[in-house]
Order: sequence, then C-alpha cells, then structure tokens
Amino acid sequence: MRLMITAGIDVGSLSTDAVLMRDGETLSQIIINTGAMARSAAERAFGLALSAAGLRASDVDAVIATGYGRMSVSFADSQVTEISCHGRGSAWLSPKVRTVIDIGGQDSKAIRIDGKGNVVDFLMNDKCAAGTGRFLEVMAQRLELELAELGREDQQAARAAQISSMCTVFAESEVVSLIAQGVPRPEIVRGLHLSIAERTAGLANRLGLAPEVMMTGGVAKNPGVVRALSEKLGAKIILPPEPQIVGALGAALIAQQKHARQSV
Ligand SMILES: Nc1ncnc2c1ncn2[C@@H]1O[C@H](COP(=O)(O)OP(=O)(O)OP(=O)(O)O)[C@@H](O)[C@H]1O
Ligand SMILES: [Mg+2]
Repeated sequence: MRLMITAGIDVGSLSTDAVLMRDGETLSQIIINTGAMARSAAERAFGLALSAAGLRASDVDAVIATGYGRMSVSFADSQVTEISCHGRGSAWLSPKVRTVIDIGGQDSKAIRIDGKGNVVDFLMNDKCAAGTGRFLEVMAQRLELELAELGREDQQAARAAQISSMCTVFAESEVVSLIAQGVPRPEIVRGLHLSIAERTAGLANRLGLAPEVMMTGGVAKNPGVVRALSEKLGAKIILPPEPQIVGALGAALIAQQKHARQSV
C-alpha cells in the first residue's frame, strides 16, 4: 500500500512556506519571500518542496492552502484558516501546548487549543501594524539592521529605551529622535521588543493564558521578543524547531486527516 503524501502551503504577508508530509513524517520544508505575487510564490514554494523531497506534483494526494493568500493557491484541494493550522501544527510538535501565540508579518494571534490541536478560542490583532512583525521590519530598516540581527543586538543592551507610542508611524519618529539623541542602538532595539511584548501579552491575557505556551510565526525567531514576552507573561515559552513553518505543517497534517476520511 502506498503511503499518503500531503502538502501544506502557507501564503503569508512576508513569507510563503511549504511542508510535505508522508504519514506523519516531514519530507521537506521550504520558506521563501512572498513578494508581490502570492500565486507564483505558492507555486515556487511547492516546486522547491517537491524537488527537496525528490517528488513530483502527481505524487501528492492532497494540498491544503492557508494564510492570507490561501485563495490564490489554484492547485490546492482546499483552504483552511491560519488559526486552525497553527493550532494543529503546534499540538503535533508538542501535545501539552494549550496556548499558541503566532506573530507574523501583518497580524498577531493568541489561540487556545485542546489536546488534539482543535481551536477552542482565539483573539487576533490585524488592525494595526504595532505588535506585529511588520513593526520590527520597519524599525530594523530604520536602524540598519537585518531581522536576524535584532536578537543579538538586544542582548547587548544595558537597559531598554522608552518607546511610548502605540502607533508604528509615531514609534518610528520616536526611534529617529532616539538615534539623534545618541541612545545606543541595542537599547532602542530592547525598547522595541518590550513594546511588542507588552501588546502581545495584553492580547494573550485577554484570551486567558493556559500552559503550556508555544510561540509560532517568524517573530518567534527573534530571541529578544521571546524573552521579553516570557517575562511579561510570567510563563515559559516553548519554541518549535522552525517557528515559521508551523502554519504550513498544520495544513499538511489537516490534509492527512481530511484525505484519510475521504478515502474511507
Ligand atoms: N530570521 C529572523 N529573525 C528574526 N525575526 C524574523 C526572522 N525572519 C522573520 N522574522 C520576523 O517574522 C515576521 C514574519 O513572520 P512570518 O513569516 O511568520 O509572517 P507571515 O506568515 O508571512 O505573515 P502573516 O501571518 O501575518 O500573514 C517578520 O515581520 C519579522 O519580524
Ligand atoms: Mg503567518
């Protein structure tokens, strides 16, 4: 009997991620920039995941697309929301997880799940860039840092600079004046991380925090935010081996379940 192969494609505002699975085993995972064309990013990520696994598209039994660009994935069999996918992916990685905090490029979410990864409740901020990865993208550019350098920069800070604005545009002006005042860059970075952690902790506490807590999405790759958030929440945060692919992983897992049900 041939084992079932499924794909999950997560088309996000910053990254498009693809995961290929065969009966609960990850065969390949790919992360690329979404760029301006969601449809071609999805095709490219799928193609790269297939070549990494040495497979052809016809070998794949089911494809589920997720993320804000999921409707533009014409080759997908169905679409599932990111919330369900992050829930399922997190529970698969660590079954004791009950709260998932996903911070991506354009929104942040706090999700409560049960032991099977089903969504019990969630809260989302998608109205404002502050508190999302986009906030850090803007600030990193202003500070002439790569996203991957923010965590290291934070570690060098003796204290956090005060960033009081709740708006990305105004916070950027604050950063400009902090630079002009000669405030050390690491202190500005720590202040920015604290600001995003405060917003996210507010969201998670409104939902109600249940242990264990996992953080997913690209911002979980920033150790400065993870530490600040852990302190604000007063809780340990579990990190997946690759936080950015958890949505795509969840989509591939849901595809396995859906397809198995269909073939009964
Ligand atoms: N290597 C890295 N180090 C630190 N932070 C990173 C890194 N890569 C990405 N990020 C952060 O992750 C964010 C993007 O996360 P992710 O790829 O999960 O978003 P997305 O899924 O495309 O967006 P959304 O889910 O909001 O549509 C960026 O805005 C940035 O702040
Ligand atoms: Mg996302």
